[in-house]
Amino acid sequence: MPERINIIDASKHVDEEVEIGVWLTDKRSSGKIAFLQLRDGTAFFQGVVLKNKVSEEVFQIAKELHQEASFIVTGTIHEDSRSHFGYEIQISDIQPVGESEDFPITPKEHGIEFLLDHRHLWLRSRRPFAIMQIRNEMIRATYEFFNKEGFIKMDPPILTGSAPEGTTELFQTDYFDHDAYLSQSGQLYEEAGAMAYGKVFSFGPVFRAEKSKTRRHLTEFWMIEPEMAFTHQDESLKVQENYIAFLVQSVIDNCAYELKLLDRDPEQLKKYTKTPYPRISYKEAIEMLQKGGFDSKFGDDFGSPEETYISDQFDQPVFVMNYPKTIKPFYMLPDPDDDRLYVCADLLAPEGYGEIIGGSEREIDYDKLLKVMEDKGMDLSEYDWYLDLRKYGSVPHSGFGLGLERAITWICHLDHLREAIPFPRMINRIKP
Ligand code: 4AD
Ligand code: MG
Repeated sequence: MPERINIIDASKHVDEEVEIGVWLTDKRSSGKIAFLQLRDGTAFFQGVVLKNKVSEEVFQIAKELHQEASFIVTGTIHEDSRSHFGYEIQISDIQPVGESEDFPITPKEHGIEFLLDHRHLWLRSRRPFAIMQIRNEMIRATYEFFNKEGFIKMDPPILTGSAPEGTTELFQTDYFDHDAYLSQSGQLYEEAGAMAYGKVFSFGPVFRAEKSKTRRHLTEFWMIEPEMAFTHQDESLKVQENYIAFLVQSVIDNCAYELKLLDRDPEQLKKYTKTPYPRISYKEAIEMLQKGGFDSKFGDDFGSPEETYISDQFDQPVFVMNYPKTIKPFYMLPDPDDDRLYVCADLLAPEGYGEIIGGSEREIDYDKLLKVMEDKGMDLSEYDWYLDLRKYGSVPHSGFGLGLERAITWICHLDHLREAIPFPRMINRIKP
């Protein structure tokens, strides 16, 4: 019996007879030869059926296969330098498994709404395949990075009573006799974790009722939120740039095939593995925008045109530091040199992708934090536990949040976040 393999391991089986479970993506045939475009979940490759090398029956089956029919092929692996993948299989036998009539996603062009309506099937195509493989690599590399840096993963709750990033974008739900919200950030819980275990990170879904339809906003997305005790903002920025450089390098090292499928040049990505990343202040960013013809002034938040303009001035990711208090959340540490500002930074990705990380040093003084929360009219009965962290051994600490889909969109050079997650959730989409 030939060994059952995944085609991704083809290089170990050149000239061997193997068996592979596959689906048909496309085919071409003439009287004497059939070219089957196949995928087995690990790569896309070609199967060749020669009429004079197989039984009449097998050749007939090959000619009648429909797009997305599933079957098991037996055959011999050969190198195929003309394809992205580099190997093909010369087929000797085909065992049909599942039929497929009228697969809705044909090789012709389809509109984005049609594709999103058929996301459960669209995932099988080359482009989603490449993106999901790269997403997986970034997830794997995230765990590797934070484990090697001595962090432990501590999972925050998803049902919460708190609203770290403000109350305007909360999904509310009933929780028995109480109101609850779907978590918009695990940060406050990670701060508790940092006081317990030093260096922690969370990695999970967060939810924001974003009513805007932009290419940068999902209502459900995945965030990585590290939090570090005895750590100031300048040290946190180093962790951030090292992490991003590590993610990019991991994709370059382990996703060459996927980058080729997406036509993403690894040489371009290589530039982003060089650290440190440039740092500018919010005030410098405002000046830069004014010089570039924007009518930005102190106190303004940046939209995507502003972020794109700023990041276009650099060919690496850039930190914009110390934003005004009025446009950032309550928990940040005020800037000792300018009380109008916080000690915080957003990391803007190059090539116009905008903010991928938001982070800050945190306020650690009980009375000051209490005052800010009172001034903002926050419901203190929901945050007494958070204030406790400032009562018992409060220490300088800093953290940040990376939006996974934002980072994927940039690294894969996509137009829109919706392609960076298997089943996107947006204002007008909750199916499939
Ligand atoms: O800047 P944000 O709101 O920061 C926080 O939530 C902090 N609590 C993080 C922390 O310090 N622990 O969000 C962090 C990141 C953004 O930089 C962006 O990459 C991503 O989350 N993000 C979104 N991604 C997709 N869709 C949305 N609607 C997003 N909103 C934020
Ligand atoms: Mg932000």
